[in-house]
Amino acid sequence: MSTPTGREAPADHPIAPILANRWSPRSFTGAPLPPGALDSLLEGARWAASSNNLQPWHFIVARRDAEAEAFETLVGVLSPNNQTWARKAGVLMLSVARLANPNNGNPMRHALHDTGAATAQMALQAAALGLQAHLMAGFDAAAARTAFGIPEGFDPVAAIAIGEVGPPEALPEALAARETAPRQRRPVSEFAMFGGWRG
Ligand SMILES: Cc1cc2nc3c(=O)[nH]c(=O)nc-3n(C[C@H](O)[C@H](O)[C@H](O)COP(=O)(O)O)c2cc1C
Repeated sequence: MSTPTGREAPADHPIAPILANRWSPRSFTGAPLPPGALDSLLEGARWAASSNNLQPWHFIVARRDAEAEAFETLVGVLSPNNQTWARKAGVLMLSVARLANPNNGNPMRHALHDTGAATAQMALQAAALGLQAHLMAGFDAAAARTAFGIPEGFDPVAAIAIGEVGPPEALPEALAARETAPRQRRPVSEFAMFGGWRG
């Protein structure tokens, strides 16, 4: 299932509709997520594949209404640009990766990969529900660590804004233009190297 968004990826080859319909909006309405949606988002992340099934991901979850203080704290660690729009999300999250294997203390080389994979699944689950998620690298990781008491051995990875999508006109002009700009990607021929590395 997927809900048409008007922002479908103009893919060169057929892709699953849910992939085409996921995008990163900046205009959110501020509405709470529909009943059950947050459970489904976290469940979608839960079923991601991970190296040795070690599931290194964690998510600090702050609903705009129910965890208002944590929500404001999360807004406060975002970059000024992200703050302008992300404060209208229904939910803000911070993904955090456990860096060492809890069984033997060895570094988990794929911790960031697996945390990203879980987050990507959450974003697709959001799109499947007619919501969208917008990931953010633009946040102060040290400030987030302090604000939320994230211990050593765990690294903040990405902030995530999730919610019901609002109209582009609700944004300041510069951001509204980005909201409707054509979606672009490098062509497959630039990153797929059949038969071996090609410099
Ligand atoms: C790890 C990651 C970090 C990102 N950081 C930001 C950010 O700080 N601010 C922002 O506005 N968008 C951010 N984005 C969104 C990207 O700009 C967006 O995914 C990209 O332009 C492709 O657009 P699409 O997701 O709509 O296909 C980030 C995306 C990812 C995956």
